[in-house]
Amino acid sequence: AKPVTIPALQAMRAAGTKIAMLTCYDASFASLMDRCGVDILLIGDSLGMVCAGHSSTLPVTLADMVYHTASVARGNKNALILADLPFASYATPEAALESSAALMRAGAQMVKIEGGAWLADTVRFLAERGIPVCAHIGLTPQFVHQLGGFKVQGKTDEGAERLKNDALALQAAGAAIVLLEAVPAALGKATTELLQVPTIGIGAGPDCSGQVLVMHDMLGVFPGHKARFVKNFMEGQTSIEGAVRAYVSGVKDGSFPAPEHCF
Ligand code: KIV
Ligand code: NA
Repeated sequence: AKPVTIPALQAMRAAGTKIAMLTCYDASFASLMDRCGVDILLIGDSLGMVCAGHSSTLPVTLADMVYHTASVARGNKNALILADLPFASYATPEAALESSAALMRAGAQMVKIEGGAWLADTVRFLAERGIPVCAHIGLTPQFVHQLGGFKVQGKTDEGAERLKNDALALQAAGAAIVLLEAVPAALGKATTELLQVPTIGIGAGPDCSGQVLVMHDMLGVFPGHKARFVKNFMEGQTSIEGAVRAYVSGVKDGSFPAPEHCF
């Protein structure tokens, strides 16, 4: 296997090869996922919920993210390492640069930020300085209090238009990939077709360029609410490695997500 790079992700999108992403928080799982062919390991701020037991991602600090990013990087060989900028760590372009630099020094190869067109200046500021950016739109969990819960986004015509305009603005600003969370499958498809950069979906339908799930969800160990888009890949498997391999092949062959996982 060769290291996964950003041009390689672009080539996968162009060839119609689906991109398989999972969240990952430690070295042992990084080694396992890398061996199973997961293309991108996301150190998600979901670690505040699945590892630390908080009810949202808001308490996660930059120091938490640096610790887990460094742990994942030590276990990994070939996967691309993507780390979340945590809540309130990218309020200005300068703050975003400083926070991103800490994650990059810990081993991240790309950072992810939550928000729409208003973040375009920040994306441009980072991209111009050698920091690839994944723009996360749709259901953005750092906005849980404004959204009034973890709810499907882009259901109205107006909401769908805004999402597509956000995606275009973030791409124009230099976003390397766009992540769509919890939007109708038709909107996931339309947004993917509108863009030149790869899209990664979670609850955004089967037509995105790739998929992501939270590790604890796809292994069936998260005790909290199970979202519609989650599939427990341990079912029918006798090992975690089997479950991760089943996830990768489900994403690659297009069988995941199935209609029952979509909005
Ligand atoms: O933190 C996370 O796990 C994420 C994914 C759900 C996309 O941002
Ligand atoms: Na996140």
